[in-house]
Amino acid sequence: MISMLENVEVRMKRMIEELDDPYVNGLFENLPRGKRLRAKLILRIAGENERAAELAAIVEMIHAASLLHDDVIDDAPLRRGVVSVNASEGSKQAVMLGDVLYARGFEALTSFEEDIAKKVSHAVTLLSIGEMMDVRMSKSFNADIERYFRMIYQKTAALIEATASAAAMLAKKDEKIYGLYGKNLGIAFQIIDDILDITQSSEQLGKPAMHDFEEGKTTLPYIYLYESLDDEARERLVSMHGKKLADEQKEWIRGMMEVTAAVQKAYLYAKELGEEAIALMEGENEEGLAQIVEAMIEREF
Ligand code: FPP
Ligand code: MG
Repeated sequence: MISMLENVEVRMKRMIEELDDPYVNGLFENLPRGKRLRAKLILRIAGENERAAELAAIVEMIHAASLLHDDVIDDAPLRRGVVSVNASEGSKQAVMLGDVLYARGFEALTSFEEDIAKKVSHAVTLLSIGEMMDVRMSKSFNADIERYFRMIYQKTAALIEATASAAAMLAKKDEKIYGLYGKNLGIAFQIIDDILDITQSSEQLGKPAMHDFEEGKTTLPYIYLYESLDDEARERLVSMHGKKLADEQKEWIRGMMEVTAAVQKAYLYAKELGEEAIALMEGENEEGLAQIVEAMIEREF
């Protein structure tokens, strides 16, 4: 018997195969699969049943669409170690493939109750606004921590929050508690993503390492670093923002992160959010959902 997570894969595959377009189908088949965090959440919260698998396939389809668009926006050559669609087919095809996946997901979402469909669609609006904010914020060095949190909530956590609360609605569980769990998990997830960009190698990440700052993204460890530096070092850091970094500049940044414990501070913050999420789930007797948080915090890529 195939696992429920495989069932989700089969559903996604079918959603695209039904379009009967070999080019679209070929591109879709070659997309790297990823961690399927959102699908796992839905199956854990709503149980291993057909409706949960369908909702999981929809959310993963929307997530895949958002990554296709994100790679165009970030001009990313790789996604999870595989050549990105924008790199192999050009940005026009990558945007349109994203639109196909996105529209297909929404078509399937219409078979769900209105409150579930609204929850998921609204999250995609927030996601898009968050991504726009990320682009704007990349234009100059951002030391405003509240602005960073607002952006990552919208860009990443809003869909995970909606995923968890929509799954709770499906299972007639408390959507507020599960939504808050998803929000905390989502914010922690993005902070860990931002940390791994600094601490891991390109091989481990499947994409160029230390690239966020080159792209103009002042992520949480950089904000903490900035807060701990004297004026002269601050100036030096800001002067490197948004440009290709030489190896010795990368070493300087990594060294300063070490001295000031900026990465560690960001990690502790993510861990705290994770612990809040775990505590919420302990109250609901959801051992599996606590494990998802732990694995996410401890991940290496
Ligand atoms: C990854 O961020 C990007 C996201 C989590 C969301 C992107 C959202 C959109 C492009 C909105 C449009 C969505 C649809 C469905 C039309 P990142 O660049 O920090 O992470 P990465 O390192 O994985 O690229
Ligand atoms: Mg990106």
